Amino acid sequence: MDTLKQPRVLLCVSAGIAAYKCCEVVRRLKDEGADVQVVMTERATQFVTPLTFQALSGRPVRSSLFDAAAEAAMGHIELARWASLVLIAPATADVLARLAAGIADDLVTTLCLATSAPVLAAPAMNQQMWQHPATQANLRTLLDRGMRLIGPDEGDQACGEVGPGRMVEPAALVQAVLAAMHSLPSTGTSLAGRRVLITAGPTREAIDPVRYISNHSSGKQGFALAAAAQRAGAEVTLIAGPVTLRTPPGLRRIDVISARDMHQATLAAIADHDLFIAVAAVADYRPTHSAATKLKKIGGNAALTIALTENPDIVAEVATLTKRPFVVGFAAETDRVLDNAREKRLRKGLDAIVVNDVASPGIGFGGDDNAVTLIWDDGEQTIARAAKARIAEQLIEALARLLHERDRRSSI
Ligand code: PMT
Repeated sequence: MDTLKQPRVLLCVSAGIAAYKCCEVVRRLKDEGADVQVVMTERATQFVTPLTFQALSGRPVRSSLFDAAAEAAMGHIELARWASLVLIAPATADVLARLAAGIADDLVTTLCLATSAPVLAAPAMNQQMWQHPATQANLRTLLDRGMRLIGPDEGDQACGEVGPGRMVEPAALVQAVLAAMHSLPSTGTSLAGRRVLITAGPTREAIDPVRYISNHSSGKQGFALAAAAQRAGAEVTLIAGPVTLRTPPGLRRIDVISARDMHQATLAAIADHDLFIAVAAVADYRPTHSAATKLKKIGGNAALTIALTENPDIVAEVATLTKRPFVVGFAAETDRVLDNAREKRLRKGLDAIVVNDVASPGIGFGGDDNAVTLIWDDGEQTIARAAKARIAEQLIEALARLLHERDRRSSI
């Protein structure tokens, strides 16, 4: 049987109370025709007995690197190769930290290091632990290496607190596994075979050879989206304003300085793209005249006036193209956040817009975190504060779904 017909799922259960939900995950995966091998950390066996998982999966559970009988039947490297997909559920803060550090001190972490199969993790932990900078930094590392996250959900937690950190429900977990397994455009969250163009970072509008008008965009959110789109299978082109970020592996980068450079580069590249995401903080205006030599002080407390001319609106122009991609803008708002974004989407003729409240401390411009709402024709999705890499993963998933939905409708 080939992998698509019978997925071989290595379910790695770490020590969280959500482990009990994985019994249901095993049952549902089996119903979907998957072959499931459960591996548990020693401490996870305190939450659910291996016998329960063995009965549900039909395979003896593995939990030790040093089980001579189990190793003789199928060594751990063989097991890592056997898997067509690895699912870590629940993924505790501890297991994520060990994976981020590349530690292989038990069977679960060793298998994750030794496998070449896609690794999905369903985090589950107390909301403070989830939001802790150490956990978020580990997640960024793991996402950058290609691990995919499912959830977590927000809501009531077993510890009595409320917030992000609940493991997603078994049905959603199984859906995500199947989608990853079959990684085809029809699964809804893949961008395989799609071409995606993304703008990122600020632009600089020259006043004279040494001064310019710009903004605080670091490019982090746009670069994270480019990396996430690439991991989802897309061919990605990234048009970057002046930033100091490294290019995510495997994508084409075009560097620009000013809004007019970005406008020109975008229009030159846009043909045959399926999705355009304008994350860049493009200067709305540029100095009407950029002085050829450094401006001198006028002196005498006289005011210096710089006349400004409006720049072309790149995303609005792409939205008017006859053969246009699915067009997504970003909105950086400080007041009437959702209303302004809804109006902006309509005014610019966009398929969707992602709004962030850049007046909120710690998110938006420059920082490592963001919190956004995606707004489209007939829906809105709020994504709670998280690392920009994580926000990017969720946005790409949502945008892939919207793209597939549009294609499905236009083919009817
Ligand atoms: O780069 P980071 O530090 O990670 O910060 C991320 C971010 C805050 C820059 C990002 O999340 C964001 O909000 N980007 C959009 C910023 C912005 O310029 O918003 P706006 O509301 O002014 O513009 C609306 C949309 O029009 C944007 O998609 C923008 O790219 C586009 N635009 C604007 C002006 C123009 N001349 N051409 C455009 O295409």
